[in-house]
Amino acid sequence: MTNDSQPVRRMKRPWKVAVIGNIKDPNQPKPEGVPPDAFADFDTMETMDALRAAIETDGHSTVFLHADRELPYTLKKASPDIVFNMAEGLGGDAREAQAPALLEMLNIPYTASRVLTNGISLDKTLTKRIWRDRRLPVAPFQEFNIGDEPIRPELKYPLFVKPAREGTGMGVDTKALVNTEAELRERAQYIIGVYKHPALVENFLPGREFTVGILGRADAKLYSRRPEWYEKDGFHRFPILELDTGNTEGPWIYTNEAKSKDVGPEGNEGFFCPAIVDPELEKKLQRLALRAHNIINALDVSRVDIRLDGEGNPRLIEINTLPGLTPGYSDLCLQAAAEGIEHTDLVLDILYLAAGRWGMLEPRQLEETKKNGSRTG
Ligand SMILES: Nc1ncnc2c1ncn2[C@@H]1O[C@H](COP(=O)(O)OP(=O)(O)O)[C@@H](O)[C@H]1O
Ligand SMILES: [Mg+2]
Repeated sequence: MTNDSQPVRRMKRPWKVAVIGNIKDPNQPKPEGVPPDAFADFDTMETMDALRAAIETDGHSTVFLHADRELPYTLKKASPDIVFNMAEGLGGDAREAQAPALLEMLNIPYTASRVLTNGISLDKTLTKRIWRDRRLPVAPFQEFNIGDEPIRPELKYPLFVKPAREGTGMGVDTKALVNTEAELRERAQYIIGVYKHPALVENFLPGREFTVGILGRADAKLYSRRPEWYEKDGFHRFPILELDTGNTEGPWIYTNEAKSKDVGPEGNEGFFCPAIVDPELEKKLQRLALRAHNIINALDVSRVDIRLDGEGNPRLIEINTLPGLTPGYSDLCLQAAAEGIEHTDLVLDILYLAAGRWGMLEPRQLEETKKNGSRTG
């Protein structure tokens, strides 16, 4: 008999934490038929080691498990109390939801967003349809499944063409920007053929590009190791990172090639963090990112990419519900560092927020609730 109700866990610390992820192997030849930039979003073992080291500083034991086809078996064997999820998945239309679905099936708690959200957020078209339904600003767009569909009148050249379900700048290079119908159709057909996904075509947004990080949820203060990070609504807003698109390979586009370059020894070349924005725009960007996060039911952590249109109005591009966590390199880590938050504390808070949600932690008694004599949680 199956039992899908969540048991009360309240496990004593320390926990056994399994960090799961997909590792890039430059020596491994790519399988036939995958795009040239396949696996660009995979992690390195150094990143996994950094996550484990961060978690171990708090007394927990860790193990790393490859998020490959053996994962169902290695998970059972390792039997972790909780999983720190970095798994990008192995293909299909919702690969970032694969490991979460397996973990739900095995009833193992895990960090950050759950199955449905990770499936939706990988699909940029679906995400934008949901945001648009709630009146969040997005550039006019159309999804092409074959490439010769009639073009919607709201699409205006230049247009931007990208795979609907990829990340890390995959399928985004200088040819993503198209000026004519012939170029549009050629590029859409290329994307559909190579990535085996629909092509998402959007009006080109010529303005500044920002990425906005979010951490928390309404009851974050009850479970965080750093309750002071969180505002009244339970969310922490990281300093906004602006991309210096003038420095990237393509004109004004954050390509896969640009994304894969190492950050120079002098710091984060090509970025400004905190971005220099007037306070009104800053508030607007953070408000939009938070709504974008909440509307698709993202949990605990995300990064939202936003660009300004020709009139200077912000338009949501996409949300990353599984943001990279490579110290000194990933956008979210750069944002945290810009306000003095250490990688270790960031990683531990992502873990503790999850543990709180899955019933593994006693909620903290907040001062105000203590005074009222009422119970928390
Ligand atoms: N509509 C658009 N107009 C202008 N540039 C865009 C647009 N959509 C994407 N880009 C550029 O392409 C980059 C990658 O696109 P994005 O949707 O964020 O995909 P990824 O998942 O690869 O990060 C963005 O960072 C931005 O520089
Ligand atoms: Mg992006």
